Amino acid sequence: MPRRIRQHVNPLKLGYVEGMQPALRLRAGRPIEVELGCAHADFLFERAAEDPAPLYVGVEIRAEMVRRVNERAARLGVESVCAVFGNVNADLPRLFPRASVARFYLNFPDPWFKRRHHKRRVLNPELARTLVGTLVPHGEVFFQSDVFDLALDAMEVLEREPALENVVRPWAFERMSPFRARSRREQQSERKERRVWRLRYRRVA
Ligand SMILES: C[S@@+](CC[C@H](N)C(=O)[O-])C[C@H]1O[C@@H](n2cnc3c(N)ncnc32)[C@H](O)[C@@H]1O
Repeated sequence: MPRRIRQHVNPLKLGYVEGMQPALRLRAGRPIEVELGCAHADFLFERAAEDPAPLYVGVEIRAEMVRRVNERAARLGVESVCAVFGNVNADLPRLFPRASVARFYLNFPDPWFKRRHHKRRVLNPELARTLVGTLVPHGEVFFQSDVFDLALDAMEVLEREPALENVVRPWAFERMSPFRARSRREQQSERKERRVWRLRYRRVA
């Protein structure tokens, strides 16, 4: 029988905030793109087909999903995609060296609708700072969600980070995805004809 996968994990629970991930062994000379909260990593597999040059890493807090992604990559012989277990809000500095990542993707992060749960949302000013420190110069942060409230929150965080500039213009959403790849949630939203709110920022000097 297939193993049951938890739908949600509270990232603030002790054990998820301690940060225990060792640094990844990444081959130098290859751009690195990272999806934060990758789940099935459909997006990364499609990105790898679209652009084979980078190495694609998914960071995911549900260990069972990490196992499945890595099994799928091995089964398909896709050497450029891997997933790693980690809490986006605690483990990034340990996982990736400073100025090493070409692009971060935040595809449809958990919305945590209840106000008392907003503190569990992954994107906050601390994470934005960490992303800036981990990005290569001119590296990008791409965010998308079909929850307008969450996208507005994300916009506020990213606009207020001085080392990031909005690729479209200040306080503007990007209408279409610049990528052919679609995450699983993105595909579901498109099937339901829900509007997707997208943001893209670039690290400035
Ligand atoms: C709504 S799903 C979106 C999955 C995928 N990005 C997509 O667009 O289809 C959010 C994912 O983020 C993961 N997640 C939530 N908080 C996390 C955290 N603090 N660190 C790592 N992963 C996290 C969840 O386990 C879940 O797999």
